[in-house]
Amino acid sequence: MNDLIFVKNLKKEYGNESMVTKVLEGLDFTIKKGEFISIIGPSGSGKSTLMHILGLLERPSSGTYMFENEDVSKLDDKKMALLRNKKIGFIFQNFNLLPRMTVLDNVKLPLGYSENKKNMNERAKKVLENVGLGERLNYFPNQISGGQKQRVAIARALVNKPSIIFADEPTGNLDSKSSTQIMEILKRLNQEGNTIILVTHDPRTTNYTERTIKIEDGKITEK
Ligand SMILES: Nc1ncnc2c1ncn2[C@@H]1O[C@H](COP(=O)(O)OP(=O)(O)OP(=O)(O)O)[C@@H](O)[C@H]1O
Ligand SMILES: [Mg+2]
Repeated sequence: MNDLIFVKNLKKEYGNESMVTKVLEGLDFTIKKGEFISIIGPSGSGKSTLMHILGLLERPSSGTYMFENEDVSKLDDKKMALLRNKKIGFIFQNFNLLPRMTVLDNVKLPLGYSENKKNMNERAKKVLENVGLGERLNYFPNQISGGQKQRVAIARALVNKPSIIFADEPTGNLDSKSSTQIMEILKRLNQEGNTIILVTHDPRTTNYTERTIKIEDGKITEK
């Protein structure tokens, strides 16, 4: 099995005996290294929940989740956090930058938690140059535009060289010009070998990806 991600009968429900919300009702799919995939579906269909499970931020209620051939349901919280920091990059709709840190320090942050702490400045600077922000290293988040903020977030997701990048509506707060720029960057990163999973409402962004997984009523309706 050379799948990066293998999921079988994956279920997620919230609540207790008196009130249960079934969110994911038995999903089966695989993701291979190097793919660029969109996950689409109506609001509340479980896209973010699925991304949080695949990104090791949350656990499924039941089912199998293999990440790089490892059964991650067997990992304790500490091992799960280590694996997440090493292997997974996140990009969110609202950027999630730390306001009191410079652009460079925001991108350096994940390196501080990783095994390799050598040349942190240089490594962070290089990924920022790669997304066109070499001139904004010492700016603070409130001194740059939305599109630039999202490029900082992309640099931060990339800096640890993760196995996979999850982007949850990364263009949701951007105008159409900045959205196109972000999608072009994600496309180039995929062409350079990165595996990217994009959660999106926007049918225009799915044109950039090779495959679309559609979720409706807790089930996959299209692969
Ligand atoms: N902690 C929680 N407790 C109870 N229910 C939850 C919890 N988190 C999510 N849900 C429910 O799970 C369902 C799916 O939520 P999710 O955020 O995954 O949807 P989504 O597809 O990302 O929607 P959107 O497109 O609006 O972002 C919703 O009905 C939501 O109410
Ligand atoms: Mg969501």
